[in-house]
Amino acid sequence: MQIGTLQILGLYQQAARQFLAGERVTYLAHAWQCGRLAEKSGAPHKLQLASWLHDIGHLWGHAHGHLEDTKAQDHAALGARLLEPLFGRAVSEPVRLHVLAKRYLVTTRGAYARKLSEEARRSLTRQGGDLSEEECVAFERNPFFADAIQLRIWDDLGKKEGWFESTPQDALDQLDELIQSLHAISVM
Ligand SMILES: [Fe+2]
Repeated sequence: MQIGTLQILGLYQQAARQFLAGERVTYLAHAWQCGRLAEKSGAPHKLQLASWLHDIGHLWGHAHGHLEDTKAQDHAALGARLLEPLFGRAVSEPVRLHVLAKRYLVTTRGAYARKLSEEARRSLTRQGGDLSEEECVAFERNPFFADAIQLRIWDDLGKKEGWFESTPQDALDQLDELIQSLHAISVM
């Protein structure tokens, strides 16, 4: 399973017509908003790209005919597998951990759990719900813990209806530029 820059851009082109389940934003707008929030926070380019691409596992799944995840964690693991060979772990690990980060925040911050969107609350059960104390401690020791938590917070914020670039092509150009800035090697 390998993906190149052109395929990534192709998936995000299609994402302009795919809506997040239960939300009123497209996957492209959501990805753009997450990338923009990361950029505005002064995040390094790799974390900006992770924010942009964190749902690539979903898009890959849609493109290859798996409609909804059997296990909702799968899209995070699949996304990380696609991204690691191209961009390394600084991009793939926050992607892999962004669902775990949601479960961690639900477990440790009551206010976070109360603010989750309806769909995010529904998917939480499928994703495994609360973490045990041991799981929380193990996650806190992960070197990508802070990046994963940060990405998760942008993921939750990046679902605003009507906040988007002027055209999908402008957004895709920004993604392309960000990828090029990291010297990704296109394999396609
Ligand atoms: Fe997301």
